[in-house]
Amino acid sequence: LSQSYHFATAQFYAKQPFMTTLIVKSLPKLRAQIAEWRLESARIAIVPTMGALHEGHLSLVRAAQARADRVIVSLFVNPKQFNNAADLANYPRTEVEDAARLASLGADVLYAPDEASMYPPGFATTVSVGGISKGLCGTHRPGHFDGVATIVAKLFLQTSADMAFFGEKDFQQVAIVRRLVKDLDIPIDIIMCPTVREADGLALSSRNMRLAAIERAIAPALAAALFEAARQLCDGGDVAAILAQAKADILAAGFHKIDYLELRDEDNLQPLDTMARNARLHVAAWLGQVRLIDTIKVLRS
Ligand code: PAF
Repeated sequence: LSQSYHFATAQFYAKQPFMTTLIVKSLPKLRAQIAEWRLESARIAIVPTMGALHEGHLSLVRAAQARADRVIVSLFVNPKQFNNAADLANYPRTEVEDAARLASLGADVLYAPDEASMYPPGFATTVSVGGISKGLCGTHRPGHFDGVATIVAKLFLQTSADMAFFGEKDFQQVAIVRRLVKDLDIPIDIIMCPTVREADGLALSSRNMRLAAIERAIAPALAAALFEAARQLCDGGDVAAILAQAKADILAAGFHKIDYLELRDEDNLQPLDTMARNARLHVAAWLGQVRLIDTIKVLRS
């Protein structure tokens, strides 16, 4: 992160003297800060992010502040979870604004390590969660969840946080992280917070920034198709027919490709061909160069 980042943040503090977010870039400094908090018996939360913070991230920070004494927000655009070089190159980076937003919320630490310190020469370990990593985004983004599991495991071990906050929009990611901490006995609570949506239903995502105006106008069709499909499933319609209609509606709205639109069991992420108590809809579709995902629980009335 650049000098201007610190400068802008310092200016921001000057305006709001009681709100400070310490920017930490090195692991030894992070650990020193955490050791001080541990002396106070503080409960520590981490909100892992890749920056380009939006209201969805901020809702995670607020949820973390409600449950923990100290909140660390990590900002690291993790190259290992991008299976597409263009997606990594185009991933939005808004560090100055991110720091200002976190300061305005009073997050305690913004941990922003660089790539060389996260993956030094010789780095050779991959954390790979089997089972639930297959299917959905696992099928369409090969290697993505290995990258996520590896960086999340590192962040949990680096911070020794007591709890971590993730958004429901990335439901498969949350399921994988839960499996990871269970399997590796990492003592951390994983807390999933509801998806935050625009007024027109579009799930907030850092990738929304990359939508052209005309694409932004089309984008809410994804959530609309999902909500309509959920309504019909609750009414007891045929699952295959409802999913086929939802796909047709998404394509008719202007999305050019659907990676998946599936009904799956929330607990084990197995596909469902009939309605069940724990049913959840998952979708990923392309609008121009941007891949959007969404998911909702199908609640029986
Ligand atoms: O959801 C994300 O932004 C990322 O996958 C995460 C959890 C920060 C890991 O890089």
